[in-house]
Amino acid sequence: MDLLLVGSGGREHALLKALLKSREVNKVYCLPGNAAMEGSRVKCVPIQPKQVTEIADFAAFHQVDFAVVAPDDPLALGAVNELEGVGVPAFGPDQDAARIESSKIFAKQLMKKYHIPTASFRVFDRARDALAYVKTCPIPIVVKADGLALGKGVTVASTREEAVRAVKELMEKHKFGDAGSRIVIEECLTGPEVSVLCFTDGKTVKPMVSSMDHKRAKDGDQGLNTGGMGVIAPNPFYTEEIAQTCMETIFVPTIRAMEQEGCPFKGCLYFGLMLTPDGPKVIEYNSRFGDPETQAVLPLLEGELLPILMACRNGTLDTCEVRFKNQASCCVVQASLGYPQAYETGFAITLPKDTETVRYDAAGVKKAEGGKGLVTGGGRVASVTAVADTLDEAVKLAYAHVDEIAFENAYHRTDIGQRALKGE
Ligand code: AMP
Ligand code: GLY
Repeated sequence: MDLLLVGSGGREHALLKALLKSREVNKVYCLPGNAAMEGSRVKCVPIQPKQVTEIADFAAFHQVDFAVVAPDDPLALGAVNELEGVGVPAFGPDQDAARIESSKIFAKQLMKKYHIPTASFRVFDRARDALAYVKTCPIPIVVKADGLALGKGVTVASTREEAVRAVKELMEKHKFGDAGSRIVIEECLTGPEVSVLCFTDGKTVKPMVSSMDHKRAKDGDQGLNTGGMGVIAPNPFYTEEIAQTCMETIFVPTIRAMEQEGCPFKGCLYFGLMLTPDGPKVIEYNSRFGDPETQAVLPLLEGELLPILMACRNGTLDTCEVRFKNQASCCVVQASLGYPQAYETGFAITLPKDTETVRYDAAGVKKAEGGKGLVTGGGRVASVTAVADTLDEAVKLAYAHVDEIAFENAYHRTDIGQRALKGE
């Protein structure tokens, strides 16, 4: 089989490795992929994720047998519709279903209509009304852009001034363009956060092992929000009992709700949950695999990924076994110093080879000029993921190897997993 994989980050590198485990895979085209992903069975092609028509044309021309669309942008732009439209079976939600991530207002209204637990909220499409509301609303409060904003459209405001600033930035200064022309202002929840990625074919839902992202740039959950600086899996706060509650009150109702709305969701649905004193609630949905959650979760999957992805697309997930190892993993991201703000790139980088228990997934890397070796080319450069029998061992093993991802100005958090280990 020839496959096509859209995206270029650490998530895609982890997906690629999982897909290559299937013997019937002859070739994978990565659009655009990154320089560390190239290999004897892997070809990177310079087509960008937002070029959805070009992606479909490429797939049709090369008679690709199955496509996997990983990032949010192409999903929201209808990449899966385009691919299916030219006869290429594709994993991922279509454009209508992808609204569950691409419009926070759609997601919140869905949850309200179907009684899926989430923070109470109000929707605003005029700055004046939103500003009047934040003058009197309870504080802290959360201000969210409706649309996709590179994971930066959310402000948890602990003062009224901060809330006012967030509203003005989104609605008056158009910091994220159209994404912020409508906003959600919602109740601030408290409790441990859990990410649960689920496979679904639109009817059946099968959760993957739970995980905990570390979104802030600095140790102790200080600093700015990032795309994610590290992950542990499973998440020790997510007990069997909580998992059961989430299945009954959140996962299944969400899948049924999307079906009833006429936009069944097929693909990977990511539930960002908060375990509040009133029970688990949805903080956000993502219409895709998480990054870096995928790097920590996939190494724990038993068996092959490709048959599961095909079952999601074909509506046969009920007959497909999804099992995870009874082990733990820890992923630490090696970033460019300064990320998520300004940082330098172009430094030579060495990336070790994967072993049985330690793997390296590359994100912001590119070929050095002249073609010899790799240089850094992004904020999150690469990650190390270790698998061990216990979380404690996985964390130690990941940190024993993180500096093998070596380049000038490398930066990583030193406390991934510590909260979980201490049970805080
Ligand atoms: P998001 O971009 O939706 O993932 O939000 C980024 C982060 O903001 C989440 O991971 C939470 O830590 C925080 N957050 C979002 N919504 C809420 C909320 N209603 N209450 C408390 N924290 C929130
Ligand atoms: N790690 C968070 C996300 O993928 O959205």
